[in-house]
Amino acid sequence: MTRPVLIDADPGCDDALAILLALEHPDLEVVGISTVHGNAPVDETTENARAILELLERTDVPVARGADRPLLVDLETAEHIHGESGIEGDLPTPGPETRPVDAHAAQFIVEQAREHAGDLVLAGIGPLTNVALAHALEPDLPALLADVVVMGGAGFGQGNVTPLAEANVHSDPHAAARVVDACEPTIAGLDVTREATLAPDRLDGLTRASPLGRSIHAWLTYYDDDRLERYGIESAALHDALVVAAIADPTVLETDRYPATVGTESGVARGALVPDATGVTGDEPNVRLAVDADGDRFRDLLGGAIERRLEAATRTQR
Ligand code: RIB
Ligand code: CA
Repeated sequence: MTRPVLIDADPGCDDALAILLALEHPDLEVVGISTVHGNAPVDETTENARAILELLERTDVPVARGADRPLLVDLETAEHIHGESGIEGDLPTPGPETRPVDAHAAQFIVEQAREHAGDLVLAGIGPLTNVALAHALEPDLPALLADVVVMGGAGFGQGNVTPLAEANVHSDPHAAARVVDACEPTIAGLDVTREATLAPDRLDGLTRASPLGRSIHAWLTYYDDDRLERYGIESAALHDALVVAAIADPTVLETDRYPATVGTESGVARGALVPDATGVTGDEPNVRLAVDADGDRFRDLLGGAIERRLEAATRTQR
């Protein structure tokens, strides 16, 4: 039996690899992609999601455009990391087959959660604005979902926007706070997602001779040298793809339950997702936080998915 997955994303290079992995994994069925502001404004992330689907020959997957701004704070985007349009690569101009559905992403999430009640896993790999809005529309959302798996926060490590805050949570801290409080999410923070790397030279058959090959290469290598040095890694951290890998194979992440809160005030605490490791708050656990990742298993899963997609593309060109 396949597991239905809805990906709420702000594509984004690592989002693109997360989508590729979900589409290629035999145990997952992607029921849709909802888009949100984040790496770029939502018009661009929606266009990018559509272009990714076209490049991967999966224009059958519905796209729902979502929030163009955070709940309360000002919009901040990250073109300096993922490229001017929010993504690197050689992407097609999306055609009418991928035109977004009529529903707003938040409504689409609720509809899909009701349709796949108890089975759907929601992967939150951008700011959590759409997920928080979906919860406002349908307070039973957590009970309708099998899990909400989020790329967010820094775990027990350092942030990437401030020393405490990671981009997805920092972009919309109020939405993240709502999801943490209401949805008992599974969360992979930067301290484990920085284990999720895949150097392109490990892949058989990845050449830059086609738009697909060029795009995958660009997505795998979106970090500049400064960033690699800062985080002490040899290739780019593919944060969002780790979330999908963990949905496909739960052994990819080791998790523990913790009480956690999100800093919503401005200043140094903004967007900090803070786990209480010693129980000092006395609060009940409300998140399953990743404490370790199996990087080799991740590389097998993502590398296998990329190789399958490249082979399929070669077959259709023959
Ligand atoms: O901090 C990493 C997260 O922010 C990822 O989801 C990446 O796509 C960026 O948006
Ligand atoms: Ca993302």
